[in-house]
Amino acid sequence: MSHYFENDLNLKSEIRQISYEYDSSFFTFNSDNGVFSKNRVDYGSRLLLETYLSEGLTEKKVLDVGCGYGFIGIVVSIITNSYVDMIDVNKRAVHLAKMNIKCNKEFKGSAFISDAYLNVSDKYDVVITNPPIRVGKTKLLEILNGAFDHLNKDGLLYFVIRKDQGALSIKKVLEDTKKVEIINKSKGYFILKVKNCKTDWHN
Ligand SMILES: C[S@@+](CC[C@H](N)C(=O)[O-])C[C@H]1O[C@@H](n2cnc3c(N)ncnc32)[C@H](O)[C@@H]1O
Repeated sequence: MSHYFENDLNLKSEIRQISYEYDSSFFTFNSDNGVFSKNRVDYGSRLLLETYLSEGLTEKKVLDVGCGYGFIGIVVSIITNSYVDMIDVNKRAVHLAKMNIKCNKEFKGSAFISDAYLNVSDKYDVVITNPPIRVGKTKLLEILNGAFDHLNKDGLLYFVIRKDQGALSIKKVLEDTKKVEIINKSKGYFILKVKNCKTDWHN
């Protein structure tokens, strides 16, 4: 069986629609075989998104890493009036994200293929990610630590990870060099907010 993050060109396409409502704003996303959580919005993604939205950050430049069909990035852009770039290694996911940009007209930003940050050259205020876990701890940490090469000085990383996926051990590793805060928890999912140690949390 192929993983959702692999590019399986033989996988039959069966486009389906997923709906989401936030604060009386309605969104529709095209999804397909071969992408993460193809039939419904993932609980962890939703918790991450809604926790991020509750932070009240608006008009930011945001990078959604491992965007899938574009759920997090598109809602963030529209609800917070932010410019969002969305990246994924999975070609079908990026194709869907581009389709979904067209269906969600107020979106500002882009979607492009990138293995971690390989094709990313800009700097951002925020990196947000429901990261791939099955890629292993080395790649996961490459994605999480690598965010800081693409964040502005006071930039923030937000991510979701389940307790049984090693949330606390990942938190501990990041704490060697970063300030890490658990800002929400639900049903075993942890939402973490990470900032470079060199800068003060409350600036
Ligand atoms: C847990 S899913 C989240 C998808 C989407 N953000 C959502 O919330 O529905 C992780 C995503 O990371 C992508 N991914 C896996 N390895 C990657 C890599 N090396 N670089 C970029 N994206 C990757 C997968 O294709 C997948 O879409």
